[in-house]
Amino acid sequence: MSPIPVIGSVAGTAAAMSRKAVQVPVIAIDGPSASGKGTVAQLVAKALKFNYLDSGALYRIVAFAAQKAGISWQDEAALASLASALEISFDDGEIYLHNNKGGDDNVSEEVRSEALGKGASEVAVHQDVRRALLDMQLKFRREPGLVADGRDMGSVVFPDAQTKIFLTASSDVRAERRYKQLINKGNNVNLRAVLADIEARDARDMQRTSAPLVQVPDAKLLDTSGMSIDEAVAQVLQWFHQNK
Ligand code: CDP
Repeated sequence: MSPIPVIGSVAGTAAAMSRKAVQVPVIAIDGPSASGKGTVAQLVAKALKFNYLDSGALYRIVAFAAQKAGISWQDEAALASLASALEISFDDGEIYLHNNKGGDDNVSEEVRSEALGKGASEVAVHQDVRRALLDMQLKFRREPGLVADGRDMGSVVFPDAQTKIFLTASSDVRAERRYKQLINKGNNVNLRAVLADIEARDARDMQRTSAPLVQVPDAKLLDTSGMSIDEAVAQVLQWFHQNK
C-alpha cells in the first residue's frame, strides 16, 4: 500500500491541476502612458478571440462622471461611492454609461479626451476608488480568455495571470506617438507640452502608494521604442504560447 503522504501529494497535484484547468487564461499588459499597450492589447485579443479589458477607461469614466456630478477628483469617499454605482459596458470599442433614464449613453469620445486622461490619473490615486472598481474588472475574466490592459493588471487585479508583460517605450518615443495621435485628431498641441504631460503622468502613476505602476518580477519587459505594432503583437503572442 502506498504511504499516506504519497497519496496526499497525488491528490494535491490533481486538485492543483483541476484548479488550473478551470482558470480562464489572462494576459496582463501593464505599462506607462502612450506606450502603445492599448493598441497591442486589442490586437492580441483579436488574434486569440479573447475578451479585452481597457481598465484605464474605467478610471476615465469615474473622472468623467464625477465632473458631471460636481464631485472633486480629490474627494475619495464621494468618488468611491460614485464608482461603485456606475454601470459601464463596452461594445465594439465603444464605451457606454448607464443613465438615470434607463438608457445607455455613448461616452467614448469625451472619456478618451486628454483632459480625462489626466482626471483618470488623479482619481486613480485613491485606494477606495481602486477597490470600488475591482469586482467590475474581475468580471471580464470569461472564456475563452482575457487580455487586460492597465497599470496594475499583473500586480493587483490578476496576480495569477499566465502571461504578464510590462510594455514600455522611451518617454521621447511615447511623446512623439501621442503628439501624432493628437495632431491627427485635429488638436493644436506642441511636442514639448505633450512630453511634459507624459512625464507628469508617469510620475503620478509610479509614485502613488496604492497600486503604483511597477514591473512585477514575473513580467516580461517589452520595450517597443524601435518596434512596429505588428512586431510587438507577435512577441506577446509568442510569450503567451510558450507559457501554455
Ligand atoms: O492610454 P493612457 O495611458 O493615456 O490612459 P489610460 O490607460 O486610459 O489610463 C489613464 C490613467 O488611469 C492612468 O494614467 C492611470 O493613472 C490610471 N489607471 C490606473 O491607475 N490603473 C489602471 N489599471 C489603468 C489606468
